Amino acid sequence: MRFDNKVAVITGAGNGIGLAIAHAFVSEGATVVVAEINLAARERAVAELLAAGGKAFGVGVDVADEDQVAQLVVRTVAELGHIDILVNNAGVVAHRLLIDMDRETWDRQLAVQLTGPFLCAKHVARHMIEQGITGKIVNISSVAALMGRIKGGPHCASKAGLTLLTKVLAMELGEYHINVNAVAPGLIEVPAQRDEYNLSATYQERYLQEIPLGRVGQPEDIAKAVLFLASTDADWISGQLHVVDGGLMSGHLSFQGVHDYSLLHGH
Ligand SMILES: NC(=O)c1ccc[n+]([C@@H]2O[C@H](COP(=O)([O-])OP(=O)(O)OC[C@H]3O[C@@H](n4cnc5c(N)ncnc54)[C@H](O)[C@@H]3O)[C@@H](O)[C@H]2O)c1
Repeated sequence: MRFDNKVAVITGAGNGIGLAIAHAFVSEGATVVVAEINLAARERAVAELLAAGGKAFGVGVDVADEDQVAQLVVRTVAELGHIDILVNNAGVVAHRLLIDMDRETWDRQLAVQLTGPFLCAKHVARHMIEQGITGKIVNISSVAALMGRIKGGPHCASKAGLTLLTKVLAMELGEYHINVNAVAPGLIEVPAQRDEYNLSATYQERYLQEIPLGRVGQPEDIAKAVLFLASTDADWISGQLHVVDGGLMSGHLSFQGVHDYSLLHGH
């Protein structure tokens, strides 16, 4: 029970990776705040966490709205007394070529995935500093922070920006013993991804060839890394982007072919 008496605020915890992170935290004793914009997802997640024997409550928040983020902190502290861990996980999806991208879609993705983590970190860190809490902040980035993706302009830009936001926060909050790290997942099998990419057999087969460890990730793979970074085992780790992708970013198969013909043709 690494997180007994700890309070973890997880944005976007109503679904997918955030929900798995929430389950992992409550299973190790933490009280989880499901900070989620979608009412139905929020209620479903809280009910699920309580049914699993965990301690959880939901707060409706749009992480891109500073007043709502400030209220999230006020309500959590009023209810639970303190915040020890923040996981900036909320994300939105938009697939469009940049030449077809409307300003509204661009702005919204940047607002949720880059401005949101800034606002949440700002208000949670102020609370941690006031109460002398040696807290942990974990930002959920993506391998899209490290390589371009067609139709992923604002996604890649926001996640790349999050890497440097993580580093600046780590520098500014270090003197208060607040650690700030980021986790960059590869492709993780969540319901939203299944709908979005229609993870067909052909797609999976092609993608799997690029993953040295031979499988698509599960939300629990990311939760394990987040819990490590939020634990005392990571007390001397800060400002880093931790890639959790089954080895995807180790290299590109097509590039290997240039040097080793047998890899492409199997002989
Ligand atoms: N699934 C993947 O393959 C993958 C890979 C790399 C990175 N990520 C990142 O992981 C995070 C979670 O992704 P997921 O796949 O679980 O997505 P998801 O769509 O299943 O969950 C995202 C959650 O965030 C919530 N949300 C959206 N906007 C919000 C806002 N403004 N305020 C509060 N909550 C909001 C949604 O309602 C949803 O419940 C995202 O930041 C995403 O970019 C996912």
